[in-house]
Amino acid sequence: MNTKEKVLEVSGLKKSFGEVEAVKGISFHLNKGEMFGLVGPDGAGKTTTIKMLTGLLAPDEGTIISGGLDIKTDRKKVQSQIGYLSQKFSLYTDLSVEENITFFAEINGVMNFTERMEMLLEFTRLSKFRGRVADKLSGGMKQKLALCCALIHGPSILYLDEPTVGVDPVSRRDFWKILSDLLKTGITILLTTPYLDEAERCSRVALLHKGEIMVIDEPEEIKSSTGKKILEIFPDQPRSAFKLLQEHSFNCQLFGDRIDILTPDPVKELDLVSNLISIAGIRLVTHRVTDPNLENVFIDLVASNYN
Ligand SMILES: Nc1ncnc2c1ncn2[C@@H]1O[C@H](COP(=O)(O)OP(=O)(O)OP(=O)(O)O)[C@@H](O)[C@H]1O
Ligand SMILES: [Mg+2]
Repeated sequence: MNTKEKVLEVSGLKKSFGEVEAVKGISFHLNKGEMFGLVGPDGAGKTTTIKMLTGLLAPDEGTIISGGLDIKTDRKKVQSQIGYLSQKFSLYTDLSVEENITFFAEINGVMNFTERMEMLLEFTRLSKFRGRVADKLSGGMKQKLALCCALIHGPSILYLDEPTVGVDPVSRRDFWKILSDLLKTGITILLTTPYLDEAERCSRVALLHKGEIMVIDEPEEIKSSTGKKILEIFPDQPRSAFKLLQEHSFNCQLFGDRIDILTPDPVKELDLVSNLISIAGIRLVTHRVTDPNLENVFIDLVASNYN
């Protein structure tokens, strides 16, 4: 078995803003060449974490070793080895695609970047638009341009903060294709996302909630470790059925005309549910049993930690 090279090691990272404990002592690492997902809802502490990892925000406590260097003592060196696409990235709207990349290259002191710029423009399918001012690009194209800027100095770790939020579905798919091509070049990627379906595509995922990592593992491991199944039921009165199940403390979620119930024993659960709703005059149209997805597991973890 080959031991994986760690390109980042984070230990006991903490950051507060006044009374708000944004990050509460998290520890994790990145393996070389992986796509790591930091997943969590609004305010979970994703951006605060990324800002500490990129040396833009000093932690209150904890250590960050990036590429073998301590960010506290070698911040500039670390920053020259990483790329960062911020949540609210900024481009120079009056500069063209090519000029934006050139500007980023120059402020980062990158020499002889023409060949790399061509490669990145090709890679992100922006070559045809090289002369267009950033202001006149679509949202998805701006995203790709910002990615080119973040990559022009040839970083070995790339940090992406919610790169696909507010991007249309087609551009989102396109962006993921670019990321998977990028991974083939050996780069390591950490991205944050509120979307659990995107997290499923990562090699490993950390679920961040209120500044704490609740679980960290491969998506498949996270899902199977619960030992639970999803019982999906389709009642003829979904909202009334959902209300009733909630009142009886079932671990359930409503999705349109479907109710998902997370349970270790779907057969027994179906029995209980059928009885309960039939007494209330609700008919069970159909049901099926599936494996939980990451979203189900995340909601369950949060609920069991805070109940
Ligand atoms: N500069 C700041 N001053 C005060 N509070 C802050 C600051 N930055 C972040 N916070 C608070 O810290 C917590 C974590 O914020 P953070 O931006 O890291 O979350 P996030 O997971 O990136 O959320 P989002 O999905 O909305 O981007 C929130 O409660 C936020 O209000
Ligand atoms: Mg954020």
